[in-house]
Amino acid sequence: MAILVTGGAGFIGSHTVVQLIQSGFDVVILDNFLNSDPEVLNQLHTITGKEIKSYNINLLDKEKVQEVFCENSIDAVIHFAGLKAVGESVAKPLHYYHNNITSTLILCEVMKDHGVKKIVFSSSATVYGAANKIPLTEDTPLGATNPYGWTKLMLEQIFKDLHTSDNEWSVALLRYFNPVGAHTSGLIGEKPGEIPNNLTPYITQVAAGKLDKLRVFGNDYDTKDGTGVRDYIHVEDLAIGHLRALDRVLTNTGVDTYNLGTGKGFSVMDIIQTFEKVTGVYIPYEVIERRPGDVAVSYADTTKAKQELRWVAEKGLEDMLRDAWKWEQKQGKCFVPHLVKRT
Ligand code: WQD
Repeated sequence: MAILVTGGAGFIGSHTVVQLIQSGFDVVILDNFLNSDPEVLNQLHTITGKEIKSYNINLLDKEKVQEVFCENSIDAVIHFAGLKAVGESVAKPLHYYHNNITSTLILCEVMKDHGVKKIVFSSSATVYGAANKIPLTEDTPLGATNPYGWTKLMLEQIFKDLHTSDNEWSVALLRYFNPVGAHTSGLIGEKPGEIPNNLTPYITQVAAGKLDKLRVFGNDYDTKDGTGVRDYIHVEDLAIGHLRALDRVLTNTGVDTYNLGTGKGFSVMDIIQTFEKVTGVYIPYEVIERRPGDVAVSYADTTKAKQELRWVAEKGLEDMLRDAWKWEQKQGKCFVPHLVKRT
């Protein structure tokens, strides 16, 4: 049973590869290493003890993608590869629409040519519009607020239309909430290229002395402490969710959509305070204006994934932040300037 993992050297992809290997699957990684580090392949070998076949390919190169399917007996695909920076997508919409949508169309065409019609797709909670009833269920009205989110929403529709045209297709659309943390070994984790956009890698870099302080984007939201509330999920729980979805696409046909979150919401202040409690490292911060496009509250109703995938996130916020900090420390160049906790 060979599973092709596009973006398999990326943050969520690499953690999913570990789970696949440890569950007995053969894995083929396809990655162009634009947003990931080839060193991850060595770490995956260290963690799993297996040499994993990989191709340094851009999914836009159809001939190369064909070669992967000719050289390997692929049973299903887990498709992570894509650009995912919300702010960048607003500045470069054509780049995002071309890269994320055209590459997926090429992948599906090649899959179809080879009779491979089972796919798990990496979607996102950003497909839910802003004004919504919380917690978010899979039936919550959709409406992206940026080109990145629209690429995910459009691709969800493309997969549904593909199944309508050929009911042999089996698709799981996984809407992630906020993936954080790292593999417990500390050997793989999140590697934001430049200054992190997301909260937790920004916090770990402040703790490591690589950034001077956290800017909190607004404390005037209608939440318990005024800061934004999100559903943070450990990346290892998220990876296991992909295996449950893979089991389903391997044994069914049709298109199913699932929220992959914990069903709990934590505020920015919760994250800061929990990080300080878990690590003993003080996080200096300054409250500034809201970030455009942010919603006040977003967290999942996880009933459907629990009932149909028999999957529930196991790890708590302390595990997430402890593992994120362990990973940051492994990156080196850490100078922890603030061991004294806030008085
Ligand atoms: C979380 C909270 C911010 C940074 C994004 C993408 C989404 C998905 C997950 C891919 C918010 C606050 C953040 C900072 C802050 N990615 N914050 N200071 O925006 O919920 O979702 O990542 O699918 O597509 O949009 O995550 O970590 O950026 O923000 O105060 O320096 O932390 O306002 O309340 P977000 P985030």
